[in-house]
Order: sequence, then C-alpha cells, then structure tokens
Amino acid sequence: MLFSLKGRTAIVTGAGSRRGIGRSIVLALAGQGANVVVCDLDPDGAKETAAAAAALGVKTEAYKCNVVNEQEIKEVVGKTLEKFGKIDILVNNAGITQPVKVLSMSEADWDRIVDVNLKGTFLFSKAVLPAMLEKGYGRIVNMSSVSAKRGGGVFGGAHYSAAKSGILAFGKALSREVAPNGITINAVAPGLVATDIRGGLEDEETQVKMTADIPCRRMATPEEVAAAVCFLASDEAGYITGEEIDVNGGSHMD
Ligand SMILES: NC(=O)c1ccc[n+]([C@@H]2O[C@H](COP(=O)([O-])OP(=O)(O)OC[C@H]3O[C@@H](n4cnc5c(N)ncnc54)[C@H](O)[C@@H]3O)[C@@H](O)[C@H]2O)c1
Repeated sequence: MLFSLKGRTAIVTGAGSRRGIGRSIVLALAGQGANVVVCDLDPDGAKETAAAAAALGVKTEAYKCNVVNEQEIKEVVGKTLEKFGKIDILVNNAGITQPVKVLSMSEADWDRIVDVNLKGTFLFSKAVLPAMLEKGYGRIVNMSSVSAKRGGGVFGGAHYSAAKSGILAFGKALSREVAPNGITINAVAPGLVATDIRGGLEDEETQVKMTADIPCRRMATPEEVAAAVCFLASDEAGYITGEEIDVNGGSHMD
C-alpha cells in the first residue's frame, strides 16, 4: 500500500473541533495505520476525535493542550514518548482567525492571532525535535492558508495572513536545519474549507458569494485537506521539504 503509516506515532494539534480539519487529519492518519495523539484546548472534543480514530483500530490518546503554553506542550510530548516511545509525525493544525481591518485591530488581537498560529507552531516543533533527531526521522506538517500567499482577502485579517505566511518561512528555515537528519518540514495551504472556524457566519447566500470567484466553485472538504497532510506525513514524501501544497480550488495559483 502506498502511504502506509502503520506503526507511526503522530501528534495533531487543534483536532478537537467536531467539523474541523484537525479531526479529519486524525482520521486520515489513523486510517493509514498511525497511532495518534489528539490535542486541543477543548478536552471533550479531543476525546471524541480520539475515540473516532480508535474505532479504526489504532492506539490513541487525547490531551487538553494550549499550543501557546510551553509547559503543557512539554507534558504532551513527555506523555507521548512514555506511551509510544517515539514521535514520527507532528501536525501543527491549531489555528484561529478574526475578520478585522488593520485600523480596527488592537495589539491584543495581533498577539492572539500571531501567537496561536505562528508561535504555537514554533513551540510544538521545538518540543518534538529532540525525539525526532534522536531517531533520525520526522515529518512536521504545518497548517498555513491561502491568505498567506494572496495577501488575505478571504476571511481573516492582516495578522492572520502574516502569521500564516510566517509559518511558511519558518518551515523553510527549519527545513534547512533538520533535513540532514531525516526530518522534513512542509505545509498545507488550504483555501476556504467548510468548517466552523468562521463561527458559522455564512448563510447559503454568503457561501455562494464567497465561492463565486473560486475556479472549483465550492469550498474544500476537510478530508481533501487531510489527504494532502497525510501524503506529506508519509515515508514517500521524504524528498519534499520546505514546501507547501495548495488545496484551494484554484483560488490562488503560484
Ligand atoms: N477552515 C478554513 O477555511 C481554513 C482555511 C485555511 C487554513 N485553515 C487552517 O486550518 C486549521 C484548522 O482550522 P479549522 O477550519 O479546522 O478550524 P476549527 O475552528 O474548526 O478548529 C480549530 C481547532 O483549534 C483549536 N484551538 C484553537 N486555539 C487553540 C490553542 N491555543 N491551542 C490548541 N488548540 C486550539 C480549537 O479549539 C479548534 O478545535 C487552522 O490552522 C486554520 O487557520 C482553515
């Protein structure tokens, strides 16, 4: 089977949202045979996702973890190593957005959005790297956004675009540091995905307007994003690093 993840151990952040991309990523990784550690601010959501993955026949754990709290991250990494002995895959998926223009953006808005998206990616990556370096193997997949590449204009504000763009640059720079040790760092940059991140703001009419300019004329499903993550997390993607896969229906083409 191509892209088998059997026996791999994965951590996925922000995977407690019931209609979210993180949950789909967990199920896709589990479907390929990986044992998965599910993290989220919402412990009940994390537990639900972990239970759904366990039903696919893999081992799972669920932890409440805020990706901007270094102590909580260290605890998750420690417990994962205790239970599974290694961390092969990290998916930095946790993210938040906010539709606000720069003139109305407070410093606190900026810090919150940049911290969860960008600093969380840095902190979690740093925490798993010693274990990956020890084994000489690792796959880190970060969640960027089409907003990083087209300068927003989709939903989030400039702080969100900056953070998601920073994730791409961070990944490229880190790739150079750790690629000689068998560790790859890549990103997935989704366009509009049908999840609750926009707080269910859109009615059907708004959705039609939002998708009118997308060549595929629809939002992505979380499963379509998860498939790209799964590929980048596989052995077969071992010669791809510092890159991103766009899953945006053609709304931005490089
Ligand atoms: N939905 C889209 O259209 C879209 C497009 C491009 C990129 N993305 C990115 O995909 C990722 C997942 O988004 P989604 O649409 O599934 O969102 P979602 O809101 O459905 O899920 C996000 C999850 O992250 C968790 N979370 C938030 N802050 C956290 C923190 N500090 N620590 C740990 N967990 C935290 C939330 O509890 C939630 O379960 C995000 O990084 C988002 O920016 C989404």
